[in-house]
Parts: sequence; structure tokens; C-alpha cells
Amino acid sequence: MPDFAASQLVEDLEENLFGVLEKLAANVDGTQLPLIDLSSGSPRQPTPPEIIASLQSAAENPGNHEYSSFWGKPQIRTAIAAFYLREYGVELDPDREIAVFQGSHIAVSGIPRALLNPGQVLISTDPCYPLYRSAARQSQADFYGIPLDESTGFLPDFSRVPEDIARRGGLLVLNYPHNPTGAMATPALFQAALEFAENYHLPLLHDFAYASIGSHRQDRPISLLSQPGAKQWGVEVYTMSKSFLMAGWRFGFAVGNASIISAFKKLHTHSYSTVYGAVQDAAVTALELPSERIDALADIYHQRREQVFTRLAEMNWPVRKQQGTFFLWLPVPEGFSGEDFVGKLLHEAHVLVAPGDGFGEHASQYIRISLTVQTELLMAALDRIAALEFFAG
Ligand SMILES: Cc1ncc(COP(=O)(O)O)c(C=O)c1O
Repeated sequence: MPDFAASQLVEDLEENLFGVLEKLAANVDGTQLPLIDLSSGSPRQPTPPEIIASLQSAAENPGNHEYSSFWGKPQIRTAIAAFYLREYGVELDPDREIAVFQGSHIAVSGIPRALLNPGQVLISTDPCYPLYRSAARQSQADFYGIPLDESTGFLPDFSRVPEDIARRGGLLVLNYPHNPTGAMATPALFQAALEFAENYHLPLLHDFAYASIGSHRQDRPISLLSQPGAKQWGVEVYTMSKSFLMAGWRFGFAVGNASIISAFKKLHTHSYSTVYGAVQDAAVTALELPSERIDALADIYHQRREQVFTRLAEMNWPVRKQQGTFFLWLPVPEGFSGEDFVGKLLHEAHVLVAPGDGFGEHASQYIRISLTVQTELLMAALDRIAALEFFAG
């Protein structure tokens, strides 16, 4: 069989972090001590029953058996506008300011391709969700990550962007609550980002994947679009995967600046397909759930986070307390490189964690653990790690 070479563009893409982790895990013999995987970010609880019931009845509707429109049904766009008004006080035009698609992965990689020209720079953070780097590459643009560190609470300082990079900037991408560091945005951060966008005439993409998962129930993440002037410069991408436990359903939407939405929709019609009508109907049901019900879906992560904090304190493991998302970002103990530490956890405790350097050069001294695994397994993993006594008492 002939062996075909991948295109240069594909050759240049970095290997997917989770593919690398899967390979690492496959090399561990779990017969005596089963592997506990704390690396993945897929929610494990079932989707709320109201949403499932809505899909079931929508599947009976013959109207949903036809091709659906690229723009999405009017009902879903109206429901998204009502949701943004209720949750964030943001008014949206359902015809011009909303796009729907099969999961936010599509928009997070598609919006850069719809906006960037070769030679421009996608400016984001280091560390960041790895897809932003590959989105830049797929657009034949360069990537620049503003270094994030603990001293600034993992929030970017835009004055650190070199002038020549800012001038070549074609898109600014932010993501708060931040994967992987758990940092939460403040109004001041978004104002600084909007000023930077205005100074360099940059569109701003905010990936709001963890929109409903703050560091505790009262610490609600803020929407970029709820900030003054944001719609002029930005779009916000929302996914149903995390907040509504609908990761397998593949539904997300983008809201905001009409010119960005329009450019992305054009690319969308060429590169991707439409969303199954019954999934759109079920998403309407989800978005109409009361806010308290949505907040309650995140409570399991808040409970686990507190339990993990207690366990980490017993191990003398220093950790920042204000962390949103369903991950925790932990420093590697002194004397280890990130890679050595991840290897030691894997081989001696059979616990797989995500290495910081998968998210950026600036993050090699951290690991990311996920709070999506069952509480008993999470605690068992921490017991195994505690037994290795990394931090002196
Ligand atoms: C920051 C961030 N953005 C986007 C996504 C993609 O989510 P989905 O394609 O399920 O909507 C994820 C998934 O883990 C994520 O963590």
C-alpha cells in the first residue's frame, strides 16, 4: 500500500496533548494497581433528564430529519439571546450576532482561520488551551503567548507584548475561567484587554468554556460581553459541554460582533456541517433551565475542590485557592522537572496527570489535575501521591 506524506500544514501541527497522554497511559501495566486518570477534561455525570427527554421527543419530529440550516433554527437563536440577557444582561440580535455549531472546538479553531492572514500573529497566553496554538498554525499565522505567572494571578499583562508583535497582531484570544491555570477574569482584566484591542485594532475572541464553573457557587465567572464596549471588539464562544454536561452532544455558539460572526459563518458553510435539529431543540430546553439549576450542576466540582484542598494541605502542597474550571493547577515539588514529576506519578503511583508544558513553555513547573473523576477515585489517587512524600512536613 502506498505511504502518503501528510501536507506540510499537517506535518507542522504539534501532536495533540491528549493523544500523547493516551500513549503514556497505554504503557502502564495496571493489573496490580489500576491506573487513575486525572488528566482528562470530560464531564462524567449524565446530562440532566429534562434535556434528554427533550431530545427524545425532538427525534420523533420529521422536521428534524432533514438537513438543518447553517444559521440554526430561529428558536435556538432566540433562546441564546434570552439566556445572555438573563445571565449576563447582554442584548443580542439573534439574526446578526449569534452563530451555532457542533461544539466550541469548531469556533475556537475556525474564528482564527476566518480572521487571520498569513504573517499576522494570534496573541494569547502562555500557558493556554493548546488549540489556540494550532489554530494560529492552521491560519499560517504566528502565535505569541503572554507569559502568565503566579505573581499576577495568571492574568496577562498586556504591556508585556512586544510592540512589533502587537503591530502584527490579527486576533487576541482569551479564556477565563482559564484552562489550565483556573484563573478567573476581573472587570479590570477585560477592560485592559479591550483597550489593547482598540489600540491595535484587534478583534478579541473570548473562549468562555467554563462559564458556569467559578471557584465556588457565589464566585460566578464574568462574561466579556457584559463589559462596556465589548461587543464592538469581541465575540464570546460558549459551549454546552461543561455547564450542561452535554460534551458528547456537540453544541456550542458564538455571540458578539456581527462582522466576526459573519466571517466565521462563511468559513463554517465551507468547512463544517450543521447541527442536528433535535440537538438544537434539546439545547433550547437546556438554556431555559433556571439559573440555580445550572449553578447546582457545578456543585460537585466545588465539593471535590474543597476535599482536594484539604488533602493537599495535609501534604503541605502549596496551592492557589481561587481556581475556577473543573481543573486544579498545582506546582511541581522543588527538585523535579515537570516531565520527571509526571513520570514519577505515572510509574510509582499509577496516576496520570496533564503536564504543564503541554499548555505552554512557561508552564513546565506545573501539573493540571481534573476534578471530573469520581470522588473516591480522586481521593484514592491523592492517597497514592501522599505516600510518595514529596513535600517536607
Ligand atoms: C478552554 C476550552 N475551550 C474549548 C473547549 C472545547 O469544548 P467543546 O468542543 O466540547 O465545546 C475545551 C474543552 O475541553 C476547553 O477546555
